[in-house]
Amino acid sequence: MPSWTALALDCAKFVRRGLNLPPGESAVAVVLGSGLGAFADALREARSLPFAELPGFPPATVQGHKGLLVYGTLDGTPVLALQGRLHGYEGHDAATVAFPVRVLGVLGARALVLTNAAGGTNPAFAPGDLMRITDHINLTGKNPLTGPNEDLLGPRFPDLSHAWDPRLAHALEAAARETAQTLRAGIYLQMNGPSYESPAEVRMARAMGADAVGMSTVPEVIAAAHMGLPACGISCITNLAAGISPHALTHEEVMEVARAVEGKFLALLRAFLPRAFAAVPERAAKA
Ligand code: HPA
Repeated sequence: MPSWTALALDCAKFVRRGLNLPPGESAVAVVLGSGLGAFADALREARSLPFAELPGFPPATVQGHKGLLVYGTLDGTPVLALQGRLHGYEGHDAATVAFPVRVLGVLGARALVLTNAAGGTNPAFAPGDLMRITDHINLTGKNPLTGPNEDLLGPRFPDLSHAWDPRLAHALEAAARETAQTLRAGIYLQMNGPSYESPAEVRMARAMGADAVGMSTVPEVIAAAHMGLPACGISCITNLAAGISPHALTHEEVMEVARAVEGKFLALLRAFLPRAFAAVPERAAKA
């Protein structure tokens, strides 16, 4: 079995050719969560590759939903977007879930923007709010760095003090002000899913200090921190979490609210991406 590093380098070479990426360019990478995929349609001169064609990605039959890796520019800022992501609840181990982020990292992405849909555990939040992720709590019991360390990517015991990069946080707050949007800030707690949390689990999450709960993102930010790839995150609060919400949760409600928020989400990203590009230095590609 080749190492994750070898697989990521191999995939990155394939992507560089397949998407005809400009050499030496250090793009902003964006992972688009549930219902937020339309962002990729706003990219200019876009070209894409389906996950199923990417070496090292799990076969399409196992992925559970289709995904695309898209390259393009937004108002001149180069962007690499994952339209769709891999989830642990589909049966993937944490290292597989984080693999696409490792590919973006070795391609020389300068920053990573993680987006997701989440349930609000902070009673002050309302469905449709956007929340900047200030930190996370990993309740999945898994870590994408389990196994032999990928020495070429990063250290054995990476620090997570600045996994959510302060420079990008600052840029995101500035983008929210520029677009006259209220941007919440809070801690994201990940559970495995695919069932939504029980009301008791939501009370526990709140007691632990979480403001939102979801089923993604944490393996990705850990892999990014390992590689020294600066990251930031935006949760779309699609619902109040179980037991706080007066009604039962449905995936339809989550998708509906995420889609309703898409316009303001796109406006925020439009204002944010050039600032993110400027806020952090370029990173050298490894492939
Ligand atoms: N819990 C977990 N994941 C979610 C939720 C939730 O309430 N809403 C959207 N994704």
